[in-house]
Amino acid sequence: MNGLAIDVNGLSKSYGGRAVVDQVDIQVEQGRICGFLGPNGSGKTTTIRMLCGLLTPDAGSGTCLGLDIFKDAASIKRQVGYMTQKFGLYEDLSIRQNLDFVARLFELPHRKDAVDASLERLGLTARASQLAGALSGGWKQRLALAACLIHTPRLLLLDEPTAGVDPKARRDFWDQIHQLATEGITVLVSTHYMDEAERCHELVYIAYGKILARGTEAQIIDHSQLKVWTVEGDDLGKILEPLKHSEGVLSVAAFGNAVHVAGLDQDLVMAALEGVRQRHPLKIAASRANLEDVFISMIAQAPDNFQLHSQYQQERGR
Ligand SMILES: Nc1ncnc2c1ncn2[C@@H]1O[C@H](COP(=O)(O)OP(=O)(O)OP(=O)(O)O)[C@@H](O)[C@H]1O
Ligand SMILES: [Mg+2]
Repeated sequence: MNGLAIDVNGLSKSYGGRAVVDQVDIQVEQGRICGFLGPNGSGKTTTIRMLCGLLTPDAGSGTCLGLDIFKDAASIKRQVGYMTQKFGLYEDLSIRQNLDFVARLFELPHRKDAVDASLERLGLTARASQLAGALSGGWKQRLALAACLIHTPRLLLLDEPTAGVDPKARRDFWDQIHQLATEGITVLVSTHYMDEAERCHELVYIAYGKILARGTEAQIIDHSQLKVWTVEGDDLGKILEPLKHSEGVLSVAAFGNAVHVAGLDQDLVMAALEGVRQRHPLKIAASRANLEDVFISMIAQAPDNFQLHSQYQQERGR
């Protein structure tokens, strides 16, 4: 292995002639936490399933843990911990029974020890006999993490592991993830939460199957060259729609008593702001873009491949 736990290039997958993952390159060094972000339907789950050997790519090449994603898919499956987007364990089995079941699937030699260690690590020992179906979201998520760690994988692929989980449980989860990374485990984790994105060492942002940005949070923000203004005033509700339809404005969002307006072309955005200021008294101040501003603006500029595909199909049918 060249120090990269994930090293894939040109990964592609199409369904019904539509490319849902298109020429994706991902490199993640061992022991790093890489956040995988992108809107619904952008291809995150499909990419993750190709990385862990569950789905064969149409094109591309590369390795996970130094193993070839085509030739060694079976070995990859055994060495990677994959947490699915939906809770995939048995609700009518207890926590211990679920973990024991997963340990059997992996044919672990010392099953009871592995289950005990896993219960202990995730703080599940006292609840071991509770039925999985009776657990709250945060405990279910812990069980799912315990299940994907039981065979001591060196790479974790976590697909929206904290969706619907409360802030305290999410924080505990992220502490665990950082602990695992310090032990040398590599993590690729998809999420829609910006506060979680900020806890990753690096980020990959995908939309319509294509990677639009990668790097650390600061690198992505700097590279975007996005400019943001914070607007305050009395009639903020009335300025949202006119601003959204102004040339050069890529995103407009209300945050409490202020509105964030973002764009790449300073002159165009200022002209739009001056336009609305003539009708509504506003206080306008330049501010720094955050990740959410950057991602929303990228989506505003990205071509929708679903729309493009439908147009193509219509034109072909004519
Ligand atoms: N088996 C399949 N057959 C047809 N289309 C599929 C299949 N699997 C995924 N897709 C389509 O591929 C696209 C990407 O889906 P994917 O589940 O990878 O997105 P995602 O980024 O994980 O979205 P989300 O954030 O909602 O989980 C979607 O448009 C989806 O409808
Ligand atoms: Mg998904």
